[in-house]
Amino acid sequence: MKKFLVIGNPINHSLSPVLHNYWLKKNNINGIYDKQKLNSDDLKNLILRIRDKEIVGVNVTVPFKKEVIPHLDKLTLNAEATQSVNTIVLDNDKIVGHNTDINGFESAIRDIKYNFDGKKILIIGAGGVVPSIIFALYKMKVLSVTLTNRTKSKAENLRDFYNNSIIKKNDWNKIAVVDWGEIIGFDIVINATSVGLRNDQNLDLDFSKVGKNKFFYDIIYNPAETNFLKTAKNLGNQTENGKKMFIYQAAEAFKIWHDIKPEISEKVSMLLD
Ligand code: ATR
Repeated sequence: MKKFLVIGNPINHSLSPVLHNYWLKKNNINGIYDKQKLNSDDLKNLILRIRDKEIVGVNVTVPFKKEVIPHLDKLTLNAEATQSVNTIVLDNDKIVGHNTDINGFESAIRDIKYNFDGKKILIIGAGGVVPSIIFALYKMKVLSVTLTNRTKSKAENLRDFYNNSIIKKNDWNKIAVVDWGEIIGFDIVINATSVGLRNDQNLDLDFSKVGKNKFFYDIIYNPAETNFLKTAKNLGNQTENGKKMFIYQAAEAFKIWHDIKPEISEKVSMLLD
């Protein structure tokens, strides 16, 4: 039986097994997809298990998307550009790190048909998925990306890494960082913090100066409507949660491992509710 894993810390919340096990069954693949909580010290051993073909594929989530890189033999261009890996596979005896979050975000936005071209974007947060979102946004030809994070230095580090690498190389407008709470003059606001995973959590920020008829996106999909999205809606804005992105990034990982495009449907979406 082929074995697959999602690793992270914490990992209990992950719904990747629900999706992948459904698709494995649907495609008559003799395999199982599990989740495992790891510590940094365990990464080396995990890679050995992939090299020994005991595990066929691994998804990586917070906080290991960057940390896993030194253990790999090769990165795809997307993984290299973002220094972020969420999918691992053994390919021709080389352990390869992929990034499917970028296309996951792009596909989700394409689906909802919101035009990001020429827009000014604010991202709240500087954690695991933000490098991928930044890259996807520039590929979608946004005008500018601004970051704000509770711990400002983390946003500044990310800004500096990008402004000196792909932003510079592609001649895109530089990323800026603003103080926590300085939320004014944006067309699109993205919550990429973990605040809202629990219903009683709320970002202590004032969004009223953004104005109406803007677009608010939350990476979180469970709960389906975070307080961030509720507030945005009450202020007269369009909103979307991270469910589609989650499904699309998983589907691309499935394609990498099995060379099959899995079903994406209402039924699949409901598996996550
Ligand atoms: P990691 O930081 O390990 O990559 P993550 O879940 O991807 O983990 O990111 C957590 C994000 O949520 C961070 O941007 C974090 O801000 P800090 O860098 O200041 O820690 C943000 N976050 C978590 N709790 C928060 C809170 N109560 N208020 C504001 N931001 C918060």
